[in-house]
Amino acid sequence: MLTTTPFKIEDAAEGQIGGIISGIDVTKLTHDAPELEEIRQAIYRNKLIVIKGQNMGDNPAEYVEFTRKLGTPQVYFQENYHHPDFPEVFVSSNINKEGEKVGVAGTGKYWHTDCQFEQKPLSFTSITPVVIPNTVRATYYIDMHKVYENLPADLKALVEGATMIHGGNNRYKVQPCDIDKSIQQLIDYMNEIVPPVEHPAVIEHPVNGDKILYMSSGFTMKIKGLTYEENEKAMKALFDFIEQEKHIHTHSWDAGDLIIWDNRYLLHMSSSIPAGEKSKSYRIGIYDNHPFYVGLEK
Ligand SMILES: [Fe+2]
Repeated sequence: MLTTTPFKIEDAAEGQIGGIISGIDVTKLTHDAPELEEIRQAIYRNKLIVIKGQNMGDNPAEYVEFTRKLGTPQVYFQENYHHPDFPEVFVSSNINKEGEKVGVAGTGKYWHTDCQFEQKPLSFTSITPVVIPNTVRATYYIDMHKVYENLPADLKALVEGATMIHGGNNRYKVQPCDIDKSIQQLIDYMNEIVPPVEHPAVIEHPVNGDKILYMSSGFTMKIKGLTYEENEKAMKALFDFIEQEKHIHTHSWDAGDLIIWDNRYLLHMSSSIPAGEKSKSYRIGIYDNHPFYVGLEK
């Protein structure tokens, strides 16, 4: 643990995302430690932070405890993702234990922001690796505040004042208990537990007041009020602009990284894991004490 170096926050360069925090063992923080507010503010300022040198992958109990100090940990609505002992820990893994499946493999390989399909989306996502593949494993990000600021006038006209409809149905991962169910039954089930939701196309950050384009090709289905043809054309134009190479920030994982980002600002996507390589990570979603956007209740 980095107990001999002082607590330090290095902010991202102007216009970039990703601050680096070092010199801290987050398991040692008390509930009223001033560093907790400094970490929260660093997340809002940098959109993504990397806390170096933690061992959360070996200590899921302490990982949950830390997220409780930072905010309110989420228990994801689908139990098949849960760690067997800690329901707050969402397990992404292609490693089975004694032949038994643990967590879910191949999660998040498309542009999205976590729980966009819910009425109250997730404020922060934290992730820590448990097993890192031998070759590079990366997570990719797009800053949607920056995208909004750079939108050309014709695209801005499409989203200004608009409402978007989001849903997670197409990303549902089939479970062993789904055997013998039809696709229609699964769609009906998903519509029942997480029906499509509406959010403003442009949201205002509750802390910084930044305007953010809130849409993703993973979860956003349509702009309310457009015809099918109009919507297809608008979605293609918007996603072609959003998902350009120049907008993508790559985080390459080091052992011990604990990363936390603000889901209001960032889209993310995980990289593909090379065939035959093992990968496992823990995620805990965290609600901060602000509404997700200005105008939405807490
Ligand atoms: Fe995700």
